[in-house]
Amino acid sequence: MLRIINIGRLVGIVPEGVLRKQGAEMAQTGVLEDAWLEIEDGRIKGFGEMRFPDSALRAPLEMTNHSGQTDDMVDAEGGMVMPAFCDSHTHIVYAGSRAGEFLDKIEGLSYEEIAARGGGILNSADLLHETSEEGLFRQAMERVGEMVRQGTGAIEIKSGYGLNPADELKMLRVIRRIKETSPALIRPTFLGAHAVGRGYTHEAYVQAIVDMMPDTAALADFVDVFCDEGFFTPEDTDRILTAAARYGLRPKIHANELAVSGGVQAGVRHQALSVDHLERTTEAEIEALKGTGTMPTMLPGTSFFLGLPYGRAKDFIHAGLGVALASDYNPGSAPSGDMRFVMALGCIQMRLTPVEAFNACTLNSAYAMGVSDVTGSITPGKRADFILTRPGWTLTNLPYLHHSPFIRQVFLQGLPQ
Ligand code: NIG
Ligand code: FE
Repeated sequence: MLRIINIGRLVGIVPEGVLRKQGAEMAQTGVLEDAWLEIEDGRIKGFGEMRFPDSALRAPLEMTNHSGQTDDMVDAEGGMVMPAFCDSHTHIVYAGSRAGEFLDKIEGLSYEEIAARGGGILNSADLLHETSEEGLFRQAMERVGEMVRQGTGAIEIKSGYGLNPADELKMLRVIRRIKETSPALIRPTFLGAHAVGRGYTHEAYVQAIVDMMPDTAALADFVDVFCDEGFFTPEDTDRILTAAARYGLRPKIHANELAVSGGVQAGVRHQALSVDHLERTTEAEIEALKGTGTMPTMLPGTSFFLGLPYGRAKDFIHAGLGVALASDYNPGSAPSGDMRFVMALGCIQMRLTPVEAFNACTLNSAYAMGVSDVTGSITPGKRADFILTRPGWTLTNLPYLHHSPFIRQVFLQGLPQ
């Protein structure tokens, strides 16, 4: 049993059974001031107001007056407690760096131009091919550690720098090992369709992805396709998703980053859990998403790094839809997994309110990776994955004071990290 007392604000309280927020609900979250939180066996047991301590709390409350903090009790000293961030879109298993392309970008080359010169995703595939599984695991765990320290508790991780059967499986085994090792909740996605692998024609590679499905499905929960100009078409996407469905892989799609691609509609046709990027969106995409279980997911860190338009999150919300935000952490278009910065970009660049951006980075991002029944909010029974902030912090100050250190301690499954 762990008790957190004297919490200035306990935020992100959501009733059991609410798995996502949509439309006007995006602007709401449950807040309790001057609160306590109780954790048992790694899960949230209960919470309440300090002026009404429940019977279980009475003894320790008296104890604090005499002896201060104990092993099973933490005095929040007026700090905020909020659910840990959920990051539903990352590519953190990669080898080395693409700092050279960063310099090319500064000189004026676009993401597409770098890719066309054989850089980009294929560059990462070459580096990954040369790196041992152990080396890949170690590099990726560094990134996971960094993300956890920045307050993230659940991470979706994609393959997609293998681009041939052996190397895609190598990536998925590394993701499995991260899942077994890390205190964070990890969900693996097979993204064979990230770029056409070296040595394949386009058509032969799409067939190779279909053929990889039985082996990769054993290691992945989701399937993803980069359905965009110069990469994979909606027809390729249909073919790959149809094959994936036979093995129970639900889609999460990369769409509309470089052009309006038809990827959103392809995702909706196949009951995708999420459609991601959406830097370029027309009314047709918003219409296609209405009434579906698909979560539109925007990646403002990519817009920031590549100088792309920001997703039209407000228009989605006004249309009654939910929106999730994720980092897209990868070496080419978003080399950061800092979800607090993602939240800040959501407010500063996309004009989301702090509560909307917070819901997008927690419950809705958990939904977009199929884990909002177990994490992403302060709800009894969920994993005790939360951030305890320094004293005095509010949700508004997270994006406002966007680089001031705010974390006192991250707890995952009730354990301090
Ligand atoms: O989500 N858009 C495709 N994939 C990644 C970029 C991957 C890379 O450049 O290595 C993305 O932005
Ligand atoms: Fe991505």
